[in-house]
Order: sequence, then C-alpha cells, then structure tokens
Amino acid sequence: PGGRPLAGRHALVTAGPTHEPIDPVRYIANRSSGKQGYAIAAALAALGARVTLVSGPVMLPDPPGVTAVRVESAREMLAACEAALPADIAVMAAAVADWRVAREATQKLKKEPGAAAPVLEMALNPDILATLSRHAQRPGLVVGFAAETEKVVQHATEKRLRKGCDWIVANDVSGDVMGGERNTVHLVTAEGVEDWPELPKSEVAERLARRIAEAMA
Ligand code: C5P
Repeated sequence: PGGRPLAGRHALVTAGPTHEPIDPVRYIANRSSGKQGYAIAAALAALGARVTLVSGPVMLPDPPGVTAVRVESAREMLAACEAALPADIAVMAAAVADWRVAREATQKLKKEPGAAAPVLEMALNPDILATLSRHAQRPGLVVGFAAETEKVVQHATEKRLRKGCDWIVANDVSGDVMGGERNTVHLVTAEGVEDWPELPKSEVAERLARRIAEAMA
C-alpha cells in the first residue's frame, strides 16, 4: 500500500565476505565491504519488507529496521539462510569464499624455527545462491550477483542459468568498485538485459528494491 509496496513480504539478503578459519587466529577471506548488500537490505526495508540480513564480518552498523544475523564462514551463512526460510525474496550479495581449509586446526599452527611452511588442503564450500535457488522452500524471487571484469553480460547470463536464480545483477568490476561508493550494473532476467547507468551503491539498491516490488506486485 502506498509507499510500502513490500509490506507483508519477507526478504533474505546476504552481504559481506565470509571468513574461513585456518586455525583459531588465522583465516582466508574475500575482499568485500558489504556496502552494496547492506544498502539493498535497507532499501527493501524502506519499501516495507521484513528483512533478514545474513552478514559476514564487516565494519558496518546494522541497517535500521533490519534483523541482522552475523556469521563468519560460508557454512554458517548457508545454515543461517536456511534457518531464515521461508522468504518471498532472496538477494545474495555476499562475496562467499569458494573454498575453505579442509581441516581447521584446533590449536594455533606453530612456526617452528627451520620448519617448512604448512600446506593447506582446501575443500569446496557450498554455493548458497545455487542451494536456495533449488531449495524445497525456494523464495519466489531469487536474485544473485556476478562480479565480472570482461564479457560482463555474457558471463552473467550463463551464471543465471547455471545457478538457477531468476535475476543476476551483473557488476562491472574492471574499475575501482571494490570498497567504493559507485557501481555500474546490468540487470539480467529471463526477459533480457537492462543496462543501468553508473550510480551510487545506495541508488543501485533503491532501484533494485523498486524493481523487486514491481515484480512482486
Ligand atoms: O559463482 P560466483 O561466486 O561468481 O557467483 C556470485 C553469486 O553467487 C553471488 O550472488 C554470490 O552471493 C553467490 N554465491 C553464493 N555462495 C557461494 C558463491 C557465490 O551464494 N559459495
């Protein structure tokens, strides 16, 4: 109704990186500020949605009116997402680590004088977007992101089909998007591709939230 077209809807948003532990003091991570995902969570809440934001470790405050669930690893992020279901909308903006260390050490790895550097065996992490897209409780609208440096739309179109999501927000990261305030995106749907102008991340979020509200109407 009026300015709250997503009232009564539950939106699940992921944001930030994941941290994959090596031992109690070390981890592997992706570079991600969480800014775009946090802005999307705030924009969906502003349109009236009940928002669950599942966030990896970031330096951002919880957006107002959003239920934030803080996690560290990809497996924790997947579990928190599944626990948040059912949802009408899922927007997966997190930069999830593709691999984790196969066996996390329970004690800090020691750097013994003269000893060789450790060799870490890696294991594949779950793909949260693909899992939710094929879930028994699949949200009605599932939106993924694709950060590409070349053939942006082609790669995003392939990713949409491979992941089984409805939309891909394709991000041209050949410039200085990472940690920055602005973003150039293309919205890839089953109907085609919308090229959006370069916008502040807050406006990308507001535009995406409005587009989601239209699709749900
Ligand atoms: O495969 P790629 O990482 O390029 O796909 C990016 C999209 O998939 C993003 O929406 C990201 O949040 C999601 N993703 C995920 N779980 C993973 C890897 C990516 O949800 N393990």
